[in-house]
Amino acid sequence: MKRPLSLTARLALLFAAMTASLLIVVGVVLGRAVEAHFVELDNHELLGKFALIENHLLTSATPEARDTLGQRLDDAFVGHDMVGVLLRDAEGSVIYAVHPSLFNASQLAGQRLPEGIASWEKDGRDYVGRERTFTLPSGAGDASRVTALVGLDITHHAQFLDATRRGLWLGISVAAAVAAMLGWWAAHHGLAPLRRVTATAGALSAARLGERLDDTDAPAEVHELVEALNGMLDRLESAFQRLSDFSADIAHELRTPVSNLMTQTAVCLSHPRSAEEYRDVLASNLEEYERIARMVGDMLFIAKAENGRLPHPDETVELAAEARALVEFYEALAEERGVKMDVGGNARVRGDGLMLRRAISNLLSNAIRHTPADGTIEITIADEGPQVALRVRNHGDTISPDQLSRVFERFHRASPDRQRHGEGAGLGLAITRAIVEAHGGTMTAESADGVTTFGMLLPRAPAQPFGR
Ligand SMILES: Nc1ncnc2c1ncn2[C@@H]1O[C@H](COP(=O)(O)OP(=O)(O)OP(=O)(O)O)[C@@H](O)[C@H]1O
Ligand SMILES: [Mg+2]
Repeated sequence: MKRPLSLTARLALLFAAMTASLLIVVGVVLGRAVEAHFVELDNHELLGKFALIENHLLTSATPEARDTLGQRLDDAFVGHDMVGVLLRDAEGSVIYAVHPSLFNASQLAGQRLPEGIASWEKDGRDYVGRERTFTLPSGAGDASRVTALVGLDITHHAQFLDATRRGLWLGISVAAAVAAMLGWWAAHHGLAPLRRVTATAGALSAARLGERLDDTDAPAEVHELVEALNGMLDRLESAFQRLSDFSADIAHELRTPVSNLMTQTAVCLSHPRSAEEYRDVLASNLEEYERIARMVGDMLFIAKAENGRLPHPDETVELAAEARALVEFYEALAEERGVKMDVGGNARVRGDGLMLRRAISNLLSNAIRHTPADGTIEITIADEGPQVALRVRNHGDTISPDQLSRVFERFHRASPDRQRHGEGAGLGLAITRAIVEAHGGTMTAESADGVTTFGMLLPRAPAQPFGR
């Protein structure tokens, strides 16, 4: 594939083309003006010659004077080598001639010139000429007409114009080349910050994601690019960081149950035991296996949800019905902990009922885990503008603001003391958020003065036709 021209080359060409077109316009206008000026000069000279000839003709009324006409005209045209004159009488016979070699054969033979200034070429030289007829005062009683043909050799004008044109073309070419070079230099110089940015960006790697592009001496246009790239690097770095943390977390989370299993099994194998003891160890191992399997399943679920690879059933979900079903499910556990649960309001959303139930279930199980005995968990469902909000509110530990911003991260536990509240892996809220976002919604979390509220904001289901 042909590579497109570089910006520098484009700018250089643009400069050259602009300079050349400007100079061509100026050259054409100037050339026309000079040409018109020469035509004017030639015409002026021709008219001057006619005035001279007329003057001599008018003073040639008498036969004597007429005899000396030739001599007088010769004197008048002495030194005017570039001028040719032909005088003819009424019959067309040449009565006087100066430098007739200026005229071509047909003109010498009597062919009339067209009106105004005529031009012709002869023996490689350029001429202009004009014709005029004079009526002479009758001297010996016969009025006569004399036609004067005056020609001017304008070869030097034409040569001057040609030389000027050649000079102009040369000048335009040189100017265009200089403009191209200056344009190239200016563009090359101007784009230096961009090349620096490219070089830095090219040297970045996953290991050097913390580096940022330098924009101290970058011009405004490059500045914006640098800011955009640096913004992208910020996002990439934090995504990359989250990904590395996640891998570290997975390893860490799996290490504990696996080492528990190993220790337990090693201790069990250290000396012979009864079948009863083996059964106990296997049962305990099974519990640990189940925990690992649940964690791996949850991680897989989050990964699928984040990549949009979950199935997308599109059913109408009554949030109150789902919440009540879950309250019933957790009834026994809540009762055991002395916690009451209350559901208020209703709204409909569209999506996957099972997944939404799982999302609410995670919020509810957290609330049950963190509500002290005799506390109440309130689930409120309400329309909020174009959205539907389901909030789970409970009294209990306050989550600090810096922890609150991170509770939705995988494996994040606001309380480092994980044994205090049971065996949570720290994946529940990450799963809830992934489900809500897969439904086009967002999560909210507030915690202050011992009251914590987690909310799911979901797009409201479109109004249903009556009877459905
Ligand atoms: N209602 C709540 N009150 C106080 N802290 C909460 C509440 N809900 C969640 N948290 C805090 O947020 C952390 C993350 O919750 P999340 O549900 O993601 O994980 P988990 O409950 O610890 O584990 P899992 O849900 O995987 O069993 C919890 O460890 C807890 O510290
Ligand atoms: Mg949880």
